[in-house]
Amino acid sequence: MKSLFATGLLMVLGTSVMAQDVTAGAREFERQCTACHVVQTPGGDTLAGRNARTGPNLYGIAGAPVAGRDDFRYSDSLSAAGETGQVWTQEAFVAYAQDPNAWLRAQLNDRRSRGRMAYQVREAQTAVDIHAYLLSLVE
Ligand code: HEC
Repeated sequence: MKSLFATGLLMVLGTSVMAQDVTAGAREFERQCTACHVVQTPGGDTLAGRNARTGPNLYGIAGAPVAGRDDFRYSDSLSAAGETGQVWTQEAFVAYAQDPNAWLRAQLNDRRSRGRMAYQVREAQTAVDIHAYLLSLVE
């Protein structure tokens, strides 16, 4: 049900270009992201991951401001991208997950931009699924 709801919501928002699989997203998040990220509610409930703090808590990241958490020290480049008012749309999230530094360079129009996330998702579809999964956790 959650999966259908998240898919419907994204279609309403007009951001859906690919089919989204929340279950696959959950599996891939666990496999590829939890070494560095947790998903924890403001109340302290851990919804995914094992409390890794190398990267920021990704609770509510879909639609949130870039580099918007005050409990994480972001790189200068990601902070600068946040200062432009950019939010984590599905499109931004998918591009960033596939190549964080390339996304930062394009956003900031600066070839020297460099963030601290040392990871790249191989397939766009996987990033789309992870995005749908993270969105489903907030409902
Ligand atoms: C090796 C550690 C590592 C892995 C693995 C990793 N990340 Fe990150 N991630 C980071 C770090 C560190 C940052 C902060 C980057 C910066 O400040 O430039 C970050 C930042 C982010 C942000 C920006 C959050 C914000 O508050 O603006 C998103 C979105 C994100 N990661 C998604 C993912 C996803 C999705 C995965 C799994 C596919 C993943 N990351 C895997 C380390 C990691």
